[in-house]
Amino acid sequence: MKPEALVFDAYGTLFDVHAVVQRCESFWTGQGARVSQLWRAKQLEWTWQRSLMRRYVPFTRVTRDALGYACETLGLALDEGRIAALMDEYLGLAAYPDVPGALETLKARGHKLAILTNGSPDMIGPLVEHSGLEFAAVLSVDEVKIFKPAPEVYELASRRLGADPQRVGFVSSNCWDALGAKSFGFRVWWINRAGAPVDRLGLQPDGVLRSLGDLPEVLS
Ligand code: LAC
Repeated sequence: MKPEALVFDAYGTLFDVHAVVQRCESFWTGQGARVSQLWRAKQLEWTWQRSLMRRYVPFTRVTRDALGYACETLGLALDEGRIAALMDEYLGLAAYPDVPGALETLKARGHKLAILTNGSPDMIGPLVEHSGLEFAAVLSVDEVKIFKPAPEVYELASRRLGADPQRVGFVSSNCWDALGAKSFGFRVWWINRAGAPVDRLGLQPDGVLRSLGDLPEVLS
């Protein structure tokens, strides 16, 4: 059964969060990858913790806080100029090479494409515009003030797209996000570019792909 809507995660799935490494490297030679890894890890961890505590703040704030924490942990100097430059990188993250062609093919086949992201509108709006990629809807958890993988988030997509959960196809490279969507009731494809094992949460994605480029074929 063809999904009525295909909903994509943004960071890590369409856009490469580690595209910031180069800019980090220009500030802290030899530390770029470490900063980027710790920055992303803390960013995600704090979304989960804030959701459990019911202490939502926009993803921009979480991202900025996580950057500060990563630099403090690694003993790296961070000033307002560097914060601004690195936060700015987030507005122009590169799309993964397999993304534009796959989305174009899916759109040409009549699929309705949407984004569902933790990113607040001030982050995801400029990023999507910069990428030149086009979507029928760009949905942010900011509408429900809780982060993924809370069911309220996936419910938002189902409601806003006017599609029953089993008619929504959800695509994420973040396994925990894919399984959150599966737990809610979406049909799910996990884009496993790194060949990682499935998270052990008692759920399995409907499909596992090594590249987004393989999605049009499995849907045809
Ligand atoms: C997002 C996070 C999961 O885009 O990367 O929602």
